Amino acid sequence: MQQQLRIGIAGLGTVGGGVWKHLHTNAELLLQRTRTRIAITRVAVRRAERAEALGVAPELVTPRWQDLPEDPNVDVVVELIGGTTDAYELISRSLKAGKHVVTANKALLAECGEELFALASRHRRQLLFEASVAGGIPIIKALREGLVANRIISLHGIVNGTCNYILSQMSTTGRTFEDVLADAKALGYAEADESLDVEGHDAAHKTAILAALAYGFWVPMHQVYTEGIRHIEQEDVKYAHQLGYELKLLGIIQADSAGAVEVRVHPTLVPREHVLASVNGVFNAVYVRGDIVGDTLFYGRGAGADATASAVIGDIAEIACMGPDAARCRGVGFDALYARVRGIEDIHSRYYLRLEVSDRPGVLAAVASVLGEHQIGILSVIQPERDSGKTSVPLVIMLHDAVERDVNAALAKISRLEVVKEDVVRIRVETFAKK
Ligand SMILES: NC(=O)c1ccc[n+]([C@@H]2O[C@H](COP(=O)([O-])OP(=O)(O)OC[C@H]3O[C@@H](n4cnc5c(N)ncnc54)[C@H](OP(=O)(O)O)[C@@H]3O)[C@@H](O)[C@H]2O)c1
Repeated sequence: MQQQLRIGIAGLGTVGGGVWKHLHTNAELLLQRTRTRIAITRVAVRRAERAEALGVAPELVTPRWQDLPEDPNVDVVVELIGGTTDAYELISRSLKAGKHVVTANKALLAECGEELFALASRHRRQLLFEASVAGGIPIIKALREGLVANRIISLHGIVNGTCNYILSQMSTTGRTFEDVLADAKALGYAEADESLDVEGHDAAHKTAILAALAYGFWVPMHQVYTEGIRHIEQEDVKYAHQLGYELKLLGIIQADSAGAVEVRVHPTLVPREHVLASVNGVFNAVYVRGDIVGDTLFYGRGAGADATASAVIGDIAEIACMGPDAARCRGVGFDALYARVRGIEDIHSRYYLRLEVSDRPGVLAAVASVLGEHQIGILSVIQPERDSGKTSVPLVIMLHDAVERDVNAALAKISRLEVVKEDVVRIRVETFAKK
């Protein structure tokens, strides 16, 4: 028997416009697959011309998002306005009013996910969020359903397309960060204010959501170590190549046997032969290691109207398939086996260092001696030719695995050596070794 699911969409921007369009493009297919007629019964949009341009019937349109939670002809509110103020109010009022909610809003979930899922659970409504991480890649469903039998050993994600585009272009063209960023803006891959992307905050929001799914507890955002790509220099991309690596902004989540979880986002050197090294341009990829399944890779477009609409409509269809009761909110929490965050100072990693040093004998020995005092071993060294006109030379050092706290202490001493002329560049290196 065919049923009907009535949808209210808030926001008709990039994602909202895509959802409107594709709910119509594939309406018959969705009807066949869900046995439910998905009907858009209300659209909240600030500027009416957006709705007009998409051909939305004027009687469906309201300028007030507040009308959606109150509308008796809406079963599911789709929040696509973004931000953390009106969106928070819209989602909480909708859940309290007995509506299911679908959202793409990673910033809001990363900040208030715990509270909003508790609210959804209390009101026995669904709060689905597939589009909030990695756009069109169904990584949320993969973690909640396909991989549910597994303990997640580690997860490494390229989850910000703008940063991946910039780093890929720096790698293939030899151009500087600033140059490529200007291009990314012209092409619409980067916002006019690029800081949310290039400073790593967007990737941190997504990584926090993935951590909640993988380990069953919400990591406060201030405990997600976050470092962006603004300071990345072409020189480091070039030396990374010589050493056999590509530079990527990774979200990294992994647990140790004592129950502590690392949740961090930073530029990372990835061995060229690893599959994540060849994820280029605006594409996203999430590499998950489960204790039963082993290694898995999820790849696809992380943003854009079509890819994101695919994820939002997937959530709407899920609610349609559950039927009108759809009462048990699955949330993301469970009796967490892990509920402690391991601080960045306690992580073990390999490190790449680039120093600018005096061009005279004994410098490498002086640096190696400080590293030795902290039990940090050297894996390899490159000492390129001096640039004409410069009195100093670069010294590139790959370190063995070490504890970050020890590396920090050693770097503090090294930077005070008289032979070291500039701030030391340090980039973490991921080996993906099985621990
Ligand atoms: N863009 C992507 O590829 C992508 C991917 C994954 C997730 N997301 C998430 O999806 C959400 C929407 O992103 P977007 O790129 O579609 O944003 P967008 O293009 O800026 O669209 C936002 C829409 O919401 C409307 N809006 C904003 N505040 C409103 C308010 N208070 N009342 C009514 N309408 C309001 C805007 O109206 P006006 O046009 O009148 O300003 C616009 O139509 C965000 O949470 C974002 O993080 C986006």
